[in-house]
Amino acid sequence: MAYIKIFDTTLRDGEQSPGFSMNIHEKTEFARQLERLGVDVIEAGFPVASPEDFASVKEIASAVREARVAGLARCAEKDIRRAWEALQDAAHPVIHVFIATSDIHMEYKLNMTREQVLQKIRDSVTLAKSLGAEVEFSAEDASRSDREFLLQAFDAAVECGASTINIPDTVGYALPQEMKELAALVRGHFPDPSITISVHCHDDLGLSVANSVASVLGGATQVECTVNGIGERAGNAALEEVVMALVTRGQDTGADCGIHTRQIYRTSRLLSTITGVPVPPNKAVVGVNAFAHESGIHQHGVMKNRLTYEIMSPESVGIYQNKMILGKHSGRHAFEERLDELGYKVSAKDLDAAFEKFKVLADRKKVITDRDIEALVDSGSYQLEETYQLDSFVVNSGTVISATAVVKLKSPDGEKEHVARGTGPIDAAFKAIDRIVKKGYPLENYTIQSVTEGEDALGEVVVRLNKDGESITGRGLSTDIIEASIRAYLNAVNKAIMMD
Ligand code: KIV
Ligand code: ZN
Repeated sequence: MAYIKIFDTTLRDGEQSPGFSMNIHEKTEFARQLERLGVDVIEAGFPVASPEDFASVKEIASAVREARVAGLARCAEKDIRRAWEALQDAAHPVIHVFIATSDIHMEYKLNMTREQVLQKIRDSVTLAKSLGAEVEFSAEDASRSDREFLLQAFDAAVECGASTINIPDTVGYALPQEMKELAALVRGHFPDPSITISVHCHDDLGLSVANSVASVLGGATQVECTVNGIGERAGNAALEEVVMALVTRGQDTGADCGIHTRQIYRTSRLLSTITGVPVPPNKAVVGVNAFAHESGIHQHGVMKNRLTYEIMSPESVGIYQNKMILGKHSGRHAFEERLDELGYKVSAKDLDAAFEKFKVLADRKKVITDRDIEALVDSGSYQLEETYQLDSFVVNSGTVISATAVVKLKSPDGEKEHVARGTGPIDAAFKAIDRIVKKGYPLENYTIQSVTEGEDALGEVVVRLNKDGESITGRGLSTDIIEASIRAYLNAVNKAIMMD
């Protein structure tokens, strides 16, 4: 079996796409989950791009111990030195340098000749290597590059110390057969197994996963991908799809990887919770319908033998079907055991907080499922010291009255209450909060999704506010969607106030 490294770029290529921005705490939390998932490389960001990117890469570099941590850099001295500075505390630092090698990019974007590009590669890889990092070199737009020149570019990188060479299909243009041939060409040129041949496929034609798998069949030994397939434009190859294709068809692909597949669902959900972007129901591997058998014929077949219609089990990706888990009479010990079975290692303090929330939820909801528990624990990761806390609220709404809300908050100066009207109950409640805190941040986005099915399902609300051009995300969880909305709004407002 060939070992295929999984290089996750959710925090770089994924995070840079609109609507997916995360703050430093969220990125670090997500990086920790990627480590639990077992990825080989975490691309943490593009340090030269902004002070926030730099700080996130630095924080992740010191938080992550097992996986390699990569920082992106153009072939420019300033970028490379900044990446290295951010990676100082990493156990296994990787500087990922890139420059375009296609004629169209070199002529119109870089305004450089082939010889100038080769010289940039030599200078940049030599510098990155001299600093002490492992070096990956990417030939941007490789799939549209002249093959002979592409190999010259890779030769230059390897001669100067790059141990990974990456073939990006930057614009998502390639077909699977082409990517397979390209990977085979590069592998044939570098038969030394210590040189990792990587691919990085975008999804503009919906072929990124097929292209990644085809590249592995051609000889690639690393796949770059993102959780839920997020990324520039149509996104990158989805990690969960690539991994499950390799694992499920291992006998035919001859490939294996180090991913703990049972962590896949949790990782996907965490990303969706952090960014507030729901996973489409029909999404392969992690969508809620991915393992739902609606038609009678299918259900009948699955009941007789799951293999009739299931090529992989939901449990294998961490989706557990058992619904009867815990209820209001369950004790702390049972709760702790369940967390352990779900793979959570929480501190005593976090356990106390999660158990408190569990008890409140158990008063409202008869049966608490694994997904509820995951949502409760994950919600702890975005709690912060709150300036304002929700005390109580009352809303009035209907077709013949205008919506009003009365909200009471606890603050360092005591309890404060305000009433406001709005276009609906949620708008009214948000306005009442604005009056209490004497600030107003434009609402950029509001999403609500249910964590589980059923009448008493937990609703999870994510709001994005704009503070001086920066997006701030807030989240709230409750069986009552107005309460979840108020909590999410307050969560974001508290974050904004902390930034003042
Ligand atoms: O798509 C691309 O070419 C990239 C490179 C920086 C690897 O993201
Ligand atoms: Zn990319």
